[in-house]
Amino acid sequence: MKYVFDVAFLPTETLKEHDCRLVIDLLRASTQITTFFDAGGETLLPVREVEESYKLKEKLGDDWKLMGERGGLPAPGFDFGNSPLELVKRGAPLHAIITTSNGTHAMMRAIEGCAEVCVACARNLESAAWDALCAGTKIGIICAGRNGEFSMEDTVCAGMYIEKLLSLAPKNGAEEMELTDGAIAAMALWRHLGPDLDGVAMESQHGRILRDLGFADDVLFCSEVSVTATVPKLAYVDGAPTIIGR
Ligand code: MLT
Repeated sequence: MKYVFDVAFLPTETLKEHDCRLVIDLLRASTQITTFFDAGGETLLPVREVEESYKLKEKLGDDWKLMGERGGLPAPGFDFGNSPLELVKRGAPLHAIITTSNGTHAMMRAIEGCAEVCVACARNLESAAWDALCAGTKIGIICAGRNGEFSMEDTVCAGMYIEKLLSLAPKNGAEEMELTDGAIAAMALWRHLGPDLDGVAMESQHGRILRDLGFADDVLFCSEVSVTATVPKLAYVDGAPTIIGR
């Protein structure tokens, strides 16, 4: 069996054909979504725009909470921001609608033309890598980036995933493994800047913005590696993109 591992630095790239896509927005959407399920949440509905989230909540009712951010802070009228540590402290609502500046957009892009989409972050590295290997042989990692630009922390995390996939795949029967140029470049960046992921995240452009907003502890939380088995999956349920935990 031959595996092909690929990395897209931005969701707006022309995406290759993949059996499974792992979407990474290390700071903080993919960590937030993973933590939502760890903190007791059951269903998350991702939407692209804040306006859309208000409309959906009006339709679904008060059992649904609004979660996410614009500019790193909760959007007006939102019940939760995009801070995973807030979820740890307050506990997650059972059902929420989430919109973030980049992460939810990347997820909506990833689900186009791919049957298996997993939310991946440092915290679920081992489990998400394993789930991807079990889902098929063409695995794509989609970095969310930031405002349409390359994001160092997402790419370094993607490189960490490539290394993990390379080490796990033979245990799942791989006889051959191929890396695309994107995967080679991400792994080179990880080998150059890792394994100090918290240092990378703290010094990244987005990490510095979050620190200035008072979210340094979130950045450290997002940098913890392989500490949860939760791998949220994005799929269409009754025609709507829906994220469920495991
Ligand atoms: C995003 O989607 O851009 C991020 O998750 C922003 C944030 O750190 O809250």
